[in-house]
Amino acid sequence: NTYDLLVVGSANADLVVGVDRRPAAGETVLGSDLVVHPGGKGANQAVAAARLGARTALLARVGDDGHGRLLRDSLDSAGVDTSGVLVGGAPTGVALITVDPSGDNSIVVSPGANGRLTPGDVRAAGELFAGARVVSVMLEIPLETVAEVARSLADGTRLVLNPSPPAPLPDEVLAACDPLIVNEHEAKVILGTELGGTQLGTDPEDWARRLLARGPRSVVVTLGSEGALVADAAGTRRVPSVKVKAVDTTGAGDAFTAALAWRLGTGESLADSAAYAARVGAAAVTREGAQESYPTAEEVAAYARHGGAL
Ligand code: RIB
Ligand code: NA
Repeated sequence: NTYDLLVVGSANADLVVGVDRRPAAGETVLGSDLVVHPGGKGANQAVAAARLGARTALLARVGDDGHGRLLRDSLDSAGVDTSGVLVGGAPTGVALITVDPSGDNSIVVSPGANGRLTPGDVRAAGELFAGARVVSVMLEIPLETVAEVARSLADGTRLVLNPSPPAPLPDEVLAACDPLIVNEHEAKVILGTELGGTQLGTDPEDWARRLLARGPRSVVVTLGSEGALVADAAGTRRVPSVKVKAVDTTGAGDAFTAALAWRLGTGESLADSAAYAARVGAAAVTREGAQESYPTAEEVAAYARHGGAL
């Protein structure tokens, strides 16, 4: 294979302001100075995997503007193959992000050019798909484009999907996932339990079983400070969390997904891949920003040895 990982997804400029608390409707609060970081769930995953040493390509669309150049610089310096980063059609996507003192964030995304990444763009990227061991996709691009990705996999290529921001998924997409990676909120949206009357109980093993019944070959449920749960035909396994002091959680989930996708492609088991990915995600929350906060493989190894601090 030419690529360990092909990511098909979004690229955003993250406009970040720190706040003591978020404003209520009609209210104004003062925040910190603006910082602009390269972000977007797709570009984040690509940079995370490349920093770990994976041969990585990104299929995405940015605008012909300064934000687009900021993203390209970040992708280039991480060593991502950007031959699939298309330019034009709309301004580069923007994420308006507030980060509170506990490191939690709230995000509004303006998709911009991400919304113009079409099924035709996927079909035109046949060479990238032919060379990819694993393809990772998320939902900051049109759903019809995600469906085209699921139809474009070469024989033996594995699809990893994190449905974020969450939306109900067609069966053909769910059936292609190996694994589907969800948090509690995303699980609820996929299962339709918020609308349909049946409630999602408190047992994540039950969520995982219900998600598996929807078609994916495997499922990963991330549980925040409780770690993660992996599930496939062989049953469910718990993966412990890694305790760290959060500085900025933005993009930590993207680092988790990218690391998991890369390790799976090397032939590692789902549980071991998820345990490795949990260390990568933990390292990412200890530093500011998304892409700039992602660790190298050496840092992850050192991190495991020292039980935390980078
Ligand atoms: O997952 C984090 C990302 O979500 C941010 O980088 C932001 O761009 C939004 O896409
Ligand atoms: Na971070």
